[in-house]
Amino acid sequence: MAPGRTHLKSTPMPDTIASRSGQVPGIRGDIRGEKELQLNEHTLSMRLERVAAHVPAGARLADIGSDHGYLPVALMRRGAIAAAVAGEVALTPFHAAERTVRENGLEERITVRHASGLAAIEPGDGITAISICGMGGETIRDILDNGKTHLSGQERLILQPNGGEQPLRQWLMENDYRIVCEELLRENRFDYEIIVAERAGPVMYTAEELYFGPLQMQTRSPAFLFKWQHRLRHKQQTLASFARARQAVPEEKVRELAREAGWISALLA
Ligand SMILES: C[S@@+](CC[C@H](N)C(=O)[O-])C[C@H]1O[C@@H](n2cnc3c(N)ncnc32)[C@H](O)[C@@H]1O
Repeated sequence: MAPGRTHLKSTPMPDTIASRSGQVPGIRGDIRGEKELQLNEHTLSMRLERVAAHVPAGARLADIGSDHGYLPVALMRRGAIAAAVAGEVALTPFHAAERTVRENGLEERITVRHASGLAAIEPGDGITAISICGMGGETIRDILDNGKTHLSGQERLILQPNGGEQPLRQWLMENDYRIVCEELLRENRFDYEIIVAERAGPVMYTAEELYFGPLQMQTRSPAFLFKWQHRLRHKQQTLASFARARQAVPEEKVRELAREAGWISALLA
């Protein structure tokens, strides 16, 4: 085996899986406000830069839902990781990731697999970190839950949900993952959360901690306060429109919204 060569092999998936992305690699990003930026394996978005910062040096990374493969390729180009798997369920981004890896001459170190979720990880990969970014929190939760057999428990999870943070944190708690780091950043008018977790035995978070993020509640960064001020205004407007509505709004929905508005008011008080 050549120096640095990994034993990672390609795992093809049936061609019936629908392609969900049509981007050209190296030309444009595809996450919300990143559309207009020239992002690629050399220049990551600030969002992916912050994700990259949580990948331990020398990690064997599995980037699930890798799209163009920018994150593992950028990290490998910097010498920051030892090996990587880029997993993609959709054909067009899968081929885009293959191309990014090939154009950077990294086929020996990064294996691109057409696979759903954690099925991209094989036992011999020795994965030590998993990134799942740019999807809804519920989707990330489902990927983790459906792929439990692919987790050794030793991996650091670096998760960047687009919404749905609460159910994702709930899954982490129920599966003995402690949140070791949290970040909230604002880029192109969107708020992005990054949740880093490690399996460390039973951990308990309160309902508010699951909602806001246990560490973010302590840090209270300007981005965090800005996000929740904005959310509070929105929830108050929705509650007011419910009160004016001619048709009855389900009581449970109003109660839930009022409860969340109460939590946010208390947080910001
Ligand atoms: C919006 S892109 C995010 C790309 C990249 N992770 C980032 O943050 O910039 C989401 C990608 O996840 C892929 N994806 C969604 N569900 C997946 C799954 N279950 N397994 C693997 N990839 C998935 C999609 O095909 C898409 O390419």
